[in-house]
Amino acid sequence: MSLGTAIYPGFFDPFTMGHFNIVERASRVFDKVVVAVAADSPKQGLFSSDERVAMIKEALKSTKNVEVEGFKGLLVNYVLEKKSIVLIRGIRTVSDFEYEFQMALANKVMSEEIETFFMMTDSKYSYLSSTIIKEVARLGGDFSQMVPPSVMNLLKAKYGHQPAR
Ligand code: COA
Repeated sequence: MSLGTAIYPGFFDPFTMGHFNIVERASRVFDKVVVAVAADSPKQGLFSSDERVAMIKEALKSTKNVEVEGFKGLLVNYVLEKKSIVLIRGIRTVSDFEYEFQMALANKVMSEEIETFFMMTDSKYSYLSSTIIKEVARLGGDFSQMVPPSVMNLLKAKYGHQPAR
């Protein structure tokens, strides 16, 4: 049975080990996973859209059947453009559920054929968020367990710390 292409969208500012874990696991289930990097964020971003796309490509360079691409505008339009009907979202805690449920339903109203699949984030990463990582990085703490190594160096560079060798 072929499960086709799944789209994993987000802002990824920055891409975390929690995101990485979802992509890796999804890539074992679906024929192809497209990591769709949203260009416009209501939040003040640390990394530009191009920087986020490049960062995720580097972090996933040895993961097979994964593509990374930026998108603008409505997610549902992008999903259909990619000839997919599957959206993947990671759920960390019960508190994520309300927001995810609302977004999945809004997407369903806009495009009935699109289905959202939820994957539980590995419990190792359920405490993580991009905001927490930026805070730890800014204050010079150890966040090496929280992001892929290439992302760690980019964050250190942003905050003026020495990159790891
Ligand atoms: N592990 C760890 N952290 C995770 C995680 C995981 N598996 N999944 C999500 N997170 C965290 C992120 O670190 C981030 O933390 P922050 O709030 O501190 O920044 C937070 O959850 C948000 O996740 P992220 O994946 O970066 O982006 P998002 O959930 O905000 O993405 C879009 C939202 C881009 C999918 C949505 O806004 C969208 O579709 N935009 C396009 C426009 C559109 O169609 N809008 C209508 C939507 S109904």
